[in-house]
Amino acid sequence: MKRFGETETIFQDMDRLNPNTQTYKPESLPERESELNQLHSALRPATMGSTPLNVFVYGPTGQGKTVGISLKTNQLQQYANGKDMDLTVVTVRCKGMDKSYHVMTHLVKNIREKRLGPGEELPSGYQQKTLLSMIISELEAISGTVIVVLDEIDAIGQDDYILYELPRAEPKGVRLSIIGITNDLQFRDNLDADVRSSLGEDEIEFAPYNADQLNNILSRRAAGALRKTEVQDIKNPFESLDSQILDSDVVPLASAYAAQESGDAREAIKLMFRACRFADDNGEPVVREEHVRQAHEYLERAAVERGIKSLPTQRATALLTVVQAEISGNTPAETNYLYSVYNKFCIKSDINNLSERRFRDKLNDLVDASILARKRKGRGRGLGMTNLYTLEVQVETVLENLEGDSRLSDLIPNIIHHRHRQ
Ligand SMILES: Nc1ncnc2c1ncn2[C@@H]1O[C@H](COP(=O)(O)OP(=O)(O)O)[C@@H](O)[C@H]1O
Ligand SMILES: [Mg+2]
Repeated sequence: MKRFGETETIFQDMDRLNPNTQTYKPESLPERESELNQLHSALRPATMGSTPLNVFVYGPTGQGKTVGISLKTNQLQQYANGKDMDLTVVTVRCKGMDKSYHVMTHLVKNIREKRLGPGEELPSGYQQKTLLSMIISELEAISGTVIVVLDEIDAIGQDDYILYELPRAEPKGVRLSIIGITNDLQFRDNLDADVRSSLGEDEIEFAPYNADQLNNILSRRAAGALRKTEVQDIKNPFESLDSQILDSDVVPLASAYAAQESGDAREAIKLMFRACRFADDNGEPVVREEHVRQAHEYLERAAVERGIKSLPTQRATALLTVVQAEISGNTPAETNYLYSVYNKFCIKSDINNLSERRFRDKLNDLVDASILARKRKGRGRGLGMTNLYTLEVQVETVLENLEGDSRLSDLIPNIIHHRHRQ
């Protein structure tokens, strides 16, 4: 067994490469200067005794929305504190709250806590309307300028009551501004036109980072995280990176991977963190390209495994038909062959039987998730084309990740049994 404190480390402050927003928050986001300037413009009225504008912020995950809005509102809060201005920022992270109702209970609690300190309970058992009045009276009790940040508000789906009512509420003695943040563009497009226009007095888009921006982000975060490095000039992070710890192609490779896949800074940081940890855990003094490749493979595999674990029943069953085909030596397999296996599976496990066409959609969903691979083949002259499917992952990986699934408990033991007989 390894002993703690025994080996040298390349890290100085690991938290800086930890993508978890709670662990470390960057002090500045140079890549989001223009977006944060737009936010600045919307919030500035607060410093002039007027009401800041309602803002709708949107863009895919990992684009610095949460961290950027928090930087900017903190900055305003500090300014207000210095000027003895009456300003309160209340944030609700709506992730996992599937109704306006939940958001409202948290809003009541969070506003109360701003006034009375932590330890307030979530109100329960009230009607929606009553909760709205509670929010309004809480706002009036706090008074002054109040900025309500609703992060990941897309969680509420169709139930937009709070977004409709809150901008229309007129708490007395309060200058109220709402910042709604969403990762889901569809949510913005589906919003009721009234809601969208009242909430989105200003709209700010956080578009995906490109490889250059990710390069700078990673360089800055790595510079603070790794040893013997000093961040002298934040605008030119490459100069401050210790080339002895980080091979020169490491950051560009990690950025290229992340830019190709999503432009998600969290994914880029995760990849970089994993690569550095691989090197460090091996007691190696230098992070090399190879560690990045290894980390990429590791994370991709982990994502696929999570994907397999969370497959809906029909897709999981479709996947098992290909596993069965593979075990019996019948891959690449045609759709109609897999469909006949599927029909047997449906009888065995009492699963609702889809049409061949819908079954094929499930196979193709699995291709999109990189769990299956698809090839097209001509059936012969004048007979059109057909699809052939194979597994993109190991049989083992699928079985391990679906084994405990009770919906499939009539199928998996059989497949495993069959496999051992081969
Ligand atoms: N420009 C940037 N510089 C440094 N770190 C960043 C930058 N943009 C995002 N991050 C980091 O990436 C992660 C995701 O950012 P976050 O604000 O949570 O994204 P979003 O809310 O858009 O999903 C966080 O760890 C954050 O610190
Ligand atoms: Mg966020």
